[in-house]
Amino acid sequence: MDGSIGFFDSGVGGISVLNEARKLLPHEDFLYYGDNLNAPYGEKPLEEICALTQRGVAFLLQKRLKALVVACNTATSAHAETLRRELSIPIVAMEPALKPAHSLRKDGRVLVLATKATLALPKFRQLMALYGEGAQPVAGAGLVELVESGKFGASEADEAICALLEPFLGETIDAIVLGCTHYVFLRPRFEVLFPDVSIVDGNAGTARRLQSVLAQSNTLRPCGSGRTELFSSGGEPFLRLMHSLLAEKANEVRHG
Ligand code: DGL
Repeated sequence: MDGSIGFFDSGVGGISVLNEARKLLPHEDFLYYGDNLNAPYGEKPLEEICALTQRGVAFLLQKRLKALVVACNTATSAHAETLRRELSIPIVAMEPALKPAHSLRKDGRVLVLATKATLALPKFRQLMALYGEGAQPVAGAGLVELVESGKFGASEADEAICALLEPFLGETIDAIVLGCTHYVFLRPRFEVLFPDVSIVDGNAGTARRLQSVLAQSNTLRPCGSGRTELFSSGGEPFLRLMHSLLAEKANEVRHG
């Protein structure tokens, strides 16, 4: 039962997953590390994504962790298998939620938005082979930068989203998968722009998976009020942004 749950992302995106985990597991302690200084990862070469992920995770491992959540689809696709081989704690990782979106499909398209790296790596090809019927991958160029800059109000976000999805606007769209944890902060804009389309992300499923992994290893905390500590390679401005994106403010502690 001892130890915290480490969360890693290239920046603030993983806070969207942390929000789900904190709701589901209020007794747990969370440590969040965002590598904001080096975000976005999605445009970088594979070796660099792996090296940065390794370094960020090493930062978290200096603390006492009982589980690790790779709250980043890009880092998962690039480096989760290596982490699983190297670490003895349970690792919960992410992939674009194509499977649930596939089950929502009627006769239209499923647009899968993710970073360029996520879409290019073998893990995504395997997912497409299983659930990719009618699915159209779309690299979400510019969206991570928008969220990292904290300027994702309606006007900026709507313009960026419409520019990306413009080629598909004349088609029937059944679902849009938000396959990057940063994009989940833009979910309200997708819902306004595409009111008849199912918007799907993997965050709640990841939190449930974390819960079941902790239950299996008998490390779920039954009571007490959990704490959250935030860390960023980018320092104070990003800590402020992370703090503003946390859904529930009670009990968190901030660090540089
Ligand atoms: N939040 C990330 C993801 O889920 C990565 C974004 C990036 O740094 O490009 O893919």
